[in-house]
Amino acid sequence: MSSRSPVFQKGLLSIKDLSTNEIEEVLSESERMLKVCRSGIKADHLRNMIMATLFFEPSTRTRLSFESAMQRLGGGIIGFADPSSSSTMKGETLADTVKIVSSYSDVIVLRHPRDGAAREAAGFADVPIINAGDGAGEHPTQALLDLFTIRKEKRKLQGLKIAIVGDLKNGRTVHSLAYALARFRNDVTFIAPRQLQAPADIVSSLNEKYGQRVEMSESLDAALDADVIYMTRVQEERFKSKAEYLQFANYYNINRNFLSRSRNDVTIMHPLPRVREISPEVDSMKNSAYFRQASYGVPVRMAILKMMLSEK
Ligand code: CP
Repeated sequence: MSSRSPVFQKGLLSIKDLSTNEIEEVLSESERMLKVCRSGIKADHLRNMIMATLFFEPSTRTRLSFESAMQRLGGGIIGFADPSSSSTMKGETLADTVKIVSSYSDVIVLRHPRDGAAREAAGFADVPIINAGDGAGEHPTQALLDLFTIRKEKRKLQGLKIAIVGDLKNGRTVHSLAYALARFRNDVTFIAPRQLQAPADIVSSLNEKYGQRVEMSESLDAALDADVIYMTRVQEERFKSKAEYLQFANYYNINRNFLSRSRNDVTIMHPLPRVREISPEVDSMKNSAYFRQASYGVPVRMAILKMMLSEK
């Protein structure tokens, strides 16, 4: 009988699939993996295991941090970063691609432009699927590294005022993050242009399933008293036209002037990539946590892979 952790045995499709205890288990394991990373010692928990990364949309952080995580655990990697180099271009379906690749690997990390694609793929795969972003749906591993970052920066995960800002309609990272934060009793404010506010079904589900009430505003000033400001990019690729995107492209900007009015100890986060929503002048300020946040992608994804695949 396998001694693997029951957490993630079927993969990780949505943050909602994890219990609060399971989320806390990931955060604890991530701390251990951070120590492994910092020690420079290569672990061998996943020796002889292969991870496939199938990325049907561009990525820098998610794909490369997953690949780094797997290699740091002693495993191997296969996959593609661009579907134009795969047989998708010959008309192969996602179902067939996943079925075949699951016979070549022990886990598949999938990014796809269609909401629900990861769950669909899981129905055809013989190995766990990790959702690395499905359209405007979810990005659960990002939410786990976001929680890890908040705990590192603030030394707690409860009782914080957290403002989530930007394209909350199309931003999959914020959908997963909101569901993750809802387990930990924080005041959450969604700040977005009216047209890009979070979908009503997400807001009502946060309230009804988790008792998480959300304040909503269009004004960035609603974040002035926040402990954490989580900025996001306007998701140009989800808009019907460039003209429509440009209406919102410069809607919010965090700069030194804004931070002179905010809490002195506010933590600024961003899943990245950033476009215009945080001025580079902020990067050197103690408040900016977004590069540390991106770096935690490796230990958190090591924790996820180890808990999913390791016998030890
Ligand atoms: N945060 C994130 O998902 O970044 P990438 O698109 O570069 O993977």
